[in-house]
Amino acid sequence: MTTHISVPPQLLLERILTLEIVRVTERAAVSAARLRGHGQEKAADQAAVDAMRRELNKLPIEGTIVIGEGERDEAPMLFIGEKVGLNAGPQVDIAVDPLEGTTLCAKNMPGAIATMAMADGGTLLHAPDVYMEKLAVGPGYAKGVVELDASPADNVRRLAKAKGVEPGAITVLVLDRPRHADIIASIRSTGAAVRLITDGDVAGVIHCADPDNTGVDMYIGTGGAPEGVLAAAALRCIGGQMQCRLILDSEEKRERAHKMGVTDPKMIYGIEDMVRGDCLFAATGVTTGSLLTGVKFRKDGVIETETVVMRSVTGTVRYIKAEHRQLDKFHLD
Ligand code: FBP
Repeated sequence: MTTHISVPPQLLLERILTLEIVRVTERAAVSAARLRGHGQEKAADQAAVDAMRRELNKLPIEGTIVIGEGERDEAPMLFIGEKVGLNAGPQVDIAVDPLEGTTLCAKNMPGAIATMAMADGGTLLHAPDVYMEKLAVGPGYAKGVVELDASPADNVRRLAKAKGVEPGAITVLVLDRPRHADIIASIRSTGAAVRLITDGDVAGVIHCADPDNTGVDMYIGTGGAPEGVLAAAALRCIGGQMQCRLILDSEEKRERAHKMGVTDPKMIYGIEDMVRGDCLFAATGVTTGSLLTGVKFRKDGVIETETVVMRSVTGTVRYIKAEHRQLDKFHLD
């Protein structure tokens, strides 16, 4: 007897796209990695953009870039509003950061990644390229355990209480920037530890989702809004909480945000406000960091990559180690 399992076509396609987006971030990572340590941020970014765009255009989707390299007049490729894909298949919103941590790549420092998220059309926040206040914790806590408008010290104490530990056992990840001096002092005043990173807050936020392995309980600080949406997509898949607010400190920024649909400039966004439906998230290591191993160019010509790919429908997280044997042969359209 044959059993027929009926899977809605949309769901099936989405499952297939999970692997497809791995190809996209893999190619971007390999292209950027060829320029690791060359001190050329722009060239490395451009290489990743070119590769990512080429791969996105092979996918069976009607895709729209909603988080990209910038607005149309400033970014010729993967600009906000650009249509990508084969123009056949589901309508999807796409957020990309082909090279997250351009400086990390240019200096060959740990933690550069190529990353993207994909969600049903019209469900990703259209965030302008401005700064965003961000607060994130991992899964397993009551909603609102920490709050963006509480002081960092309060948030440490609240999280420690919820975790059942002393504040001194909490570690908070913060971007190492002069603008974060007060935040760092506030965290340290509780006895908690601060772990500083020089760049890369998408991976920084993801660290909060697995404190047992990363040693990071919370992320606090301001960083790019596009990176905030990408991080929200990852946490939508693996759990956790985020509270974010765009920093719209000039009329020009408020207008730009308004054009993108932001009606309340002071709104605090949770994960569900930034990613309003099911999504996929992928990131491939460019340089080796605590989340992913970077691209390896082996003596025998084989190229190794490591990618994490997540799917919110099931919460599945896969780490995919790939060996690419003929990447150059197949890299053209
Ligand atoms: P880039 O790859 O665009 O350089 O971004 C790296 C990054 O560290 C992000 O992860 C972060 O959100 C942002 O820069 C912080 O901005 P700034 O460097 O201006 O403080």
